Amino acid sequence: MDKIIQAKFKSITKIDYQIIIKAGLLNEFDNYLKPIIGTNQVVLVCDETVAGLYGYSFNEKLINSGYKVLYLTVKSGEESKTAAVKEYLELEMLKAKCDRHTVCIALGGGVIGDLVGYLAATYMRGIKFIQIPTTLLSMIDSSVGGKTGINTIYGKNQIGAFCQPQLVLMDLNLLNTLPKEQIINGIVEALKIFLTFNKKYFFKLVEYLPKLVDGNYTKLGKFIAYAVKLKVMVVKKDEKEQNLRMVLNFGHT
Ligand code: GLY
Repeated sequence: MDKIIQAKFKSITKIDYQIIIKAGLLNEFDNYLKPIIGTNQVVLVCDETVAGLYGYSFNEKLINSGYKVLYLTVKSGEESKTAAVKEYLELEMLKAKCDRHTVCIALGGGVIGDLVGYLAATYMRGIKFIQIPTTLLSMIDSSVGGKTGINTIYGKNQIGAFCQPQLVLMDLNLLNTLPKEQIINGIVEALKIFLTFNKKYFFKLVEYLPKLVDGNYTKLGKFIAYAVKLKVMVVKKDEKEQNLRMVLNFGHT
C-alpha cells in the first residue's frame, strides 16, 4: 500500500459525519479526533487480535497525545457480539466513571463496530462513537451507515439500534496485515454493491482483480471510496431499512 489515497464524504441524513479514507490515519488521528473528543474520556475497544497488531500501540499514542483512555479488549470473533460482553464493557465504563460526554472508539472489524456502536447507542442513553475499521469488509460495509447490534441464541443482529458514528477513519495501512481471504471477502462485497448500483465500477474492479490476487493493493482505496459513496447514497435514502437498504443485505444471510 505505497500510495496515499484520500477521499472524504459528507454524509448522512440528520447527522453529518466525515468518512476519511487514507493510508496512515492512525498516525495523524489528532486532527480528526480532537474536534469530537476534546478533553473528554475515551473508551478504546478492540479484540485480542487487533490489540496485538494495533490496539496497544494506538492506546499508547492516544495517551501520549493527552487523551484520557479506558482501553478494553474482548475475545476475537462473533462470540463477543453478545449481551454479556456488552454488559462487561458497560460495567467497566461505569466503574471508570465514564459519563455522557465519553466517546467510544471501535477499533476492529464488523463485530467490534456493531458491539461498540450498540454500547454507545445505549450507554447513558446514547454517547458519541467513532469507527476505525480494520478489515476491508468493515470499511466497505459495516462501519458506515449506523447499523449496530448484538446476536442472541435466536440469531444474528436481532437486538440493536440504528446509531450513526460521529466519524469513520479508514486507514488503508491496516489492510497490510489482513489475510488474503479477508481481502477477498471485502472485494466480493464491493463487487456486489457495484453490480447492484454501478456497472462501470463493477467492470473496473473485475479488470483489477488479477492484480489484487497478486497482492497489488494500490488501487484498493479508490474502490473502497466508490463502494462507500454508493452505500452513503443508499443510507441517505433509507437509513432505517424500510425498503432500498434491504438490498445491501443480499449475500449476508
Ligand atoms: N450491512 C448492510 C447495511 O448496512 O445495511
